[in-house]
Amino acid sequence: MNLGLKNKVVFVTGASSGIGRACAEQFGKEFAYVIVGYRNNKEIADQVVENIKDNGGDGFAVRLDLSDLNSLDACVKEIEGRVGKIHSLILNAGENSLTPFDAIEEDEWDALLSSNLKGPYFLLKKMIPLFANSASAVFVASIAGQTGAPGHAHYAAAKAGTINLSKSAAKFFASRVRVNCVSPGLTMTRMGEEAIKGANPEYLQKKLLSRRAATPGEIANVVVFMASPAASFVYGATIDVNGGRELR
Ligand SMILES: NC(=O)c1ccc[n+]([C@@H]2O[C@H](COP(=O)([O-])OP(=O)(O)OC[C@H]3O[C@@H](n4cnc5c(N)ncnc54)[C@H](OP(=O)(O)O)[C@@H]3O)[C@@H](O)[C@H]2O)c1
Repeated sequence: MNLGLKNKVVFVTGASSGIGRACAEQFGKEFAYVIVGYRNNKEIADQVVENIKDNGGDGFAVRLDLSDLNSLDACVKEIEGRVGKIHSLILNAGENSLTPFDAIEEDEWDALLSSNLKGPYFLLKKMIPLFANSASAVFVASIAGQTGAPGHAHYAAAKAGTINLSKSAAKFFASRVRVNCVSPGLTMTRMGEEAIKGANPEYLQKKLLSRRAATPGEIANVVVFMASPAASFVYGATIDVNGGRELR
């Protein structure tokens, strides 16, 4: 299938690790121009850009911290100066912390809601003037946002907000920017490996039809498709990519 991504400008947040990195490299293989968003890991982000170039794509790395609106201004300004318009925005970056339901303090609650929900909203808002015609945006949520998660309720609440925010955004932009959401289940990344440490060892066997966690590439395949012109009639959807957990 031709995904129609050649020379399209795509900005992936959280592309210095895990799912975002897999998305960025996959876009590169489709010959896209990829803006690789990172927060702390510049060295890895630069390596991702090199990998993209080695595979026929192009791009550059840009720093952003979703919990700091000034950093978002600087990031948007840099993108505007370097490429002008973008064709796709992948709101993937996120963070988690494993804290029992009755032990979350205010600072931790605010930090998680800020980086996982408030930051993506303001980034999308600041990017509005930069969207080319027939652009797309894909939010990355989590199954935790659909099921609840007592071991990280702040994260789960933020991700439920992500799913809802993606629908508001889809309705706001209508045909100008096609907005969708991908909701992964357990995926073997830095975040996923941390999460599984505290999980019941039988979790994978009992809860997942796949009987295993996802690779980052398996989530990226769906994100890249949803962002591409090949998904041109998919609007406002939330796609579960969770190995068949909690069938809805
Ligand atoms: N892994 C799973 O099991 C799983 C399941 C469901 C949903 N998800 C979601 O999938 C997305 C990607 O997660 P992942 O598993 O790939 O995690 P990961 O390997 O830990 O990567 C997270 C990425 O987000 C960036 N990031 C974190 N906080 C940020 C902030 N405040 N501002 C800007 N960038 C920030 C990190 O940048 P630096 O490393 O440069 O700091 C990194 O590139 C997240 O939204 C996550 O919630 C993951």
